[in-house]
Amino acid sequence: GAAKAAVITRIKQLLIERDAALVAHYYVDGDIQDLAMETGGFVADSLEMARFGKNHSAKNLIVAGVRFMGESAKILSPEKRVFMPDLDATCSLDLGCDATDFAAFRALHPDRTVVVYANTSAAVKAQADWMVTSSCALAIVHQLKVEGKKILWAPDRHLGRYIQEQTGADMLLWNGACIVHDEFKAVELEMLMGAHPNAMVLVHPESPQAVVDLADVVGSTSAMIKAVVEGTATEYIVATDNGILHRMRQLAPNKVLIEAPTAGNSATCKSCAHCPWMAMNGLQGILDCLENASGEILIEEDVRVKALGCIERMLDFTK
Ligand code: 13P
Ligand code: SF4
Repeated sequence: GAAKAAVITRIKQLLIERDAALVAHYYVDGDIQDLAMETGGFVADSLEMARFGKNHSAKNLIVAGVRFMGESAKILSPEKRVFMPDLDATCSLDLGCDATDFAAFRALHPDRTVVVYANTSAAVKAQADWMVTSSCALAIVHQLKVEGKKILWAPDRHLGRYIQEQTGADMLLWNGACIVHDEFKAVELEMLMGAHPNAMVLVHPESPQAVVDLADVVGSTSAMIKAVVEGTATEYIVATDNGILHRMRQLAPNKVLIEAPTAGNSATCKSCAHCPWMAMNGLQGILDCLENASGEILIEEDVRVKALGCIERMLDFTK
């Protein structure tokens, strides 16, 4: 309504006045994604978000997503002030990989190259040789395998298992999972595929193996969007956070998008696959960042410097 429009107008004004850029993940509310695109910001997957924040000339970044995305932006751009609409927006993968426990695990396997997923704290990244996201994990691990490296992987066990299968690398896996993707169900998905035999099946690799095994395309959020935009099929079954449907509909208005089934959704719940932490991002939170400098990401300099290497290595590799 009118109140929302006023908040959006005010945010647009303040983004200019404060020399700030808004970068958003595909899982946040559609209004925020639109605002990012309309104001010269960006909506993207986690690799592209990191690169965008680093390369943008603004003095201030507002990162709409979850904590690790804001932290990566700050690690890469210490000269910028980085703000998030809600600092409590975390991730089950980050929560499930405590930095002290991880250090103990690592100490047991000093011969292994440490590869961590982006969805981890700065304190975990500070212990890693490489950071990867779902869009570059396959290529980076493949390269490490060619170099004869053995890998210690954390935290997502489904993504780790998928990369292991695809590359044949020697990988020791941490036992973490995404609470959203872990809920996709293979039996129900097969039934849905039976009802839509011509649909193309797109699966994010944080999903369980049995679901990944049914996919036509396995990839990052950006890869899934690309598959819908470029695909020749009319129907697409989408197994990832349903926040992504907003951008898919904008970019491919003539395609039919069907949400993949989770434990709760097939008939009763139309929006089960949605990350509770991504949902904490709101317009009011963005306004608070700009008006009150709330939600600032601060990282201790020694941790930041240690965490920087693994992210830069990834950005150089994917250039
Ligand atoms: P992408 O890197 O594919 O965007 O996924 C990251 C993720 O799961 C964010 O929650
Ligand atoms: Fe983490 Fe999953 Fe939420 Fe992404 S969707 S932020 S991986 S809990």
